[in-house]
Amino acid sequence: MIVPLNQRPRSGPYSGLTVNSLKRFLMTQFQEAGFETPDMDARLLVMAATGFTHTDIITRGTEFPPAATFETIADYASRRLSGEPIDHILGYREFYGRRFKITKDVLSPRPETEMLIEAALESLKDKPNAKILDLGTGSGAIAISILAEVTQAKGLALDISAAALDIAKENAAQHNASDRLAFLQGSWFEPVTGRFDIIVSNPPYITDAAMTALAPEVTGFDPDMALRGGPDGLEAYRVIISEAPNYLKPNGILLFEIGYDQGQSVSHLLETRNFTQIVTSQDLAGHDRMIKAVYKA
Ligand SMILES: C[S@@+](CC[C@H](N)C(=O)[O-])C[C@H]1O[C@@H](n2cnc3c(N)ncnc32)[C@H](O)[C@@H]1O
Repeated sequence: MIVPLNQRPRSGPYSGLTVNSLKRFLMTQFQEAGFETPDMDARLLVMAATGFTHTDIITRGTEFPPAATFETIADYASRRLSGEPIDHILGYREFYGRRFKITKDVLSPRPETEMLIEAALESLKDKPNAKILDLGTGSGAIAISILAEVTQAKGLALDISAAALDIAKENAAQHNASDRLAFLQGSWFEPVTGRFDIIVSNPPYITDAAMTALAPEVTGFDPDMALRGGPDGLEAYRVIISEAPNYLKPNGILLFEIGYDQGQSVSHLLETRNFTQIVTSQDLAGHDRMIKAVYKA
C-alpha cells in the first residue's frame, strides 16, 4: 500500500523523493483512482509546485525539491483525489498557447475550442483591422486569443455573468489586449450596437437530459449557466442566429462551437436565416464540433 504524501515524514529530502519519484508517486495514485490522464495530471501538479518547466522535469528530474514543495504537492494531490479538476487546483488553463486565469465563475476553456481560433484566423487573413464579437466570452479565451494573433483587430466580449467578465478583463490585461477589447454585460445581442466582421460564440449547448449525465468534475466546477442549453440544447443558437444578421457586415462570418450531435440542427437554423457556405467541422475525436457560415445581406 502507498503511504499518502501527507502521512510521510517531511524532514530531509522527502524520504528520498526526487522530482521524478514525486511525479511517479502522484501518477500511481491517480491511476489507482481511475483518472483518465494520470500522467499529465501528475506532471502538471509537480510542475506547478516546483516551478519546473516540462523540460526541467526531463533534465532535472533527479533533483530533490525544497521542503515547501512537499506541502504544496500533498495539498494538490489530496484535492485532485477528491475530484477537483487540475485547472481549478492551479487556477489557470493553457489555451492556444496562452495561460488564462480560471475560477468557479468561468468555464475552463477546452482544447477543442481552439478549432474556433484556427477558423477565425483563417477567415481574418485578409482583414487585419477586423471587428470581432465574442458572445458568451467566459474567461475571454476566444476573443483574447484572436486579438493576440490579429494585432490590429478590435473586439467586443459579452457575457451575461458580471463575475465572468471580471475574469475576462484580467485575462485581457495579462495578454495586453485591454486596449483593443471592450466588455459588455447582457444577454446575447441585447446591449450590442454596430456591425462586425466576425461573430464567434461557444454558447451553452448541453441538453437538460445530458446535464444529468455529466461527470461531477464538470457539474461541480464549471458554472451551470455556461453549460445549460435548454431542453434540446439549442436555445442560444436560435437567439443568436435569428439576430446575427442585424450585427454582421455583408459577407460577415458566424462561427459557433456546437455539440457532437448538433451539426444538422444548427445548419438548418442557419439556412432559414440567409446564411450560406455553411460548413460543419469535426474535432480530433471525429465529432461535429464547429460550424461556420457566411451572411449574405
Ligand atoms: C460554454 S461557455 C463558453 C465560455 C468561453 N467562451 C469558452 O469558450 O471557454 C458559455 C458562456 O456563455 C455565457 N452565457 C450564458 N447565457 C448567456 C446569455 N444569455 N447571454 C450572454 N452570455 C451567456 C456563460 O456565462 C458562459 O460564460
